[in-house]
Amino acid sequence: MNYETIIFEVQDGIGVLKFNRPKALNAINEQVLQELNDAIDKVEKDSSIRVLILTGEGDKAFVAGADISHMVNLTPLQLRGFSRKGQETLFRLERLPIPVIACVNGYALGGGTEIAMACDFIYASENAKFGQPEINLGIIPGFGGTQRLSRLVGKAMAKELCMTGKMIDAKEAKEIGLVNQVFPPDKLWEETMKTARVLASKGKVSLKAVKDCIERGFDVDLRDGCYMESDAFALCMTSPDGKEGMTAFLEKRKPEFKGELE
Ligand code: CAA
Repeated sequence: MNYETIIFEVQDGIGVLKFNRPKALNAINEQVLQELNDAIDKVEKDSSIRVLILTGEGDKAFVAGADISHMVNLTPLQLRGFSRKGQETLFRLERLPIPVIACVNGYALGGGTEIAMACDFIYASENAKFGQPEINLGIIPGFGGTQRLSRLVGKAMAKELCMTGKMIDAKEAKEIGLVNQVFPPDKLWEETMKTARVLASKGKVSLKAVKDCIERGFDVDLRDGCYMESDAFALCMTSPDGKEGMTAFLEKRKPEFKGELE
């Protein structure tokens, strides 16, 4: 598939997906969702990709939300379909077996905050802005915002953001636990790549296990989450990467992780 609304490139095991509608501040329409799904297919199939970074083209926006000009003419059934398609796409992103970093270089509003929250963590530039402003349009978030935001920042803060529709800057987003780290705009990309390279050097099996245990464990009770961890722990210990990591330690050398998932 030729992409018009995103740019997807892979270099040295790091996939970079850029939302590419800068004139519309990278707003999400059906075509973006289709192309995003196609790129996720590619990431799933290409075992050489060890980390994925999502960012926005241009210097103003990560994603300024779902495309209002697209949504305004849809019927209720079409709108439910659009919302579900967005949600399913974000579930796919969240369940990728590799780490996914949101590199937020500007506005991340509505669907933009929702996409960033489906990534494993968020690095933001000092001039990034977050929010769920749907209430100002007389609507509500539709790509999982009411659900992921409350899980990340707590119910009261999620209600305040979704009910007032206010924008918060990157510093405040970090204070409430939405954003992991904030960098000056000219350092954001470099710092994101630095972390991506660190992640790419880790064992793929154990990265997937950490992600699975934290993601799936979050929605079950503590004991079930811990049992899930025991299973993953045993699998990692006996995986080629696990054996290599522990042998390398005992032999006092750096491990070389191959990343087999078997
Ligand atoms: N949908 C469609 N077009 C959008 C857009 C969006 N979400 N956000 C920005 N654009 C377009 C603008 O219409 C404008 O296009 P034109 O040049 O053709 O007029 C262009 O991008 C530039 O935007 P502005 O001129 O508005 O730029 P600004 O600097 O004055 O303001 C902004 C920037 C504060 C981000 C403002 O554009 C804005 O408020 N955008 C809408 C944000 C929003 O409400 N997002 C939520 C959408 S609903 C949603 O996401 C639901 C969901 O959960 C799935």
